Amino acid sequence: MKKVVGIFFISVLLVSCSKEESAVSQQSTVSENKTVSEKPAISQAEVVPASQADFDFSKIALGGKLYKQNCAECHGANAEGTPDWRKRKPDGKLKPPPLNGSGHAWHHSKKLLLSIIAKGSIDKGGDMPSWEGKLSRQEMDAILTWIQSKWPEEIYTNWLEINKR
Ligand code: HEC
Repeated sequence: MKKVVGIFFISVLLVSCSKEESAVSQQSTVSENKTVSEKPAISQAEVVPASQADFDFSKIALGGKLYKQNCAECHGANAEGTPDWRKRKPDGKLKPPPLNGSGHAWHHSKKLLLSIIAKGSIDKGGDMPSWEGKLSRQEMDAILTWIQSKWPEEIYTNWLEINKR
């Protein structure tokens, strides 16, 4: 009888040991994953969440007002663009694309975006008016900030990387 109790005791010990072991190995898998996700393509310091980026409220408010006055008639009240913007118009010109992160505006650096806004596309045969001389650099910048405040976090983070190139 003593022997049986002994065996029972040892097996309880074994079970609790292996349980502990698996808990430990689970823990190490978690921390391995963590190490992987702690090494993103861009360094952590540069990943400013969209919600905390250069988004001061007065700048967004000014940008939103200027956007409404100058851009909304073509790009939509919420920067949603024309529904079938990917299809060209019968005259071959592009329709106003969305600027809210669902189009490809976020593939362009800030410098390029500002230059698209300043130059427009009329002299290249498009419909986008030039804003040079009509809006100041600061006003264009505020509009861009308002536009970017609409981008989903992931899009904004990807754009930060593109913007460095
Ligand atoms: C008369 C219509 C019209 C107005 C007003 C207009 N746009 Fe556009 N915009 C367009 C069109 C059309 C395009 C497509 C590009 C082209 O024509 O080559 C475009 C393209 C753009 C792009 C490039 C998007 C991309 O995906 O590459 C940006 C950025 C942009 N517009 C910003 C603005 C801003 C900011 C304003 C207001 C200050 C504005 N637009 C006002 C018609 C307009």
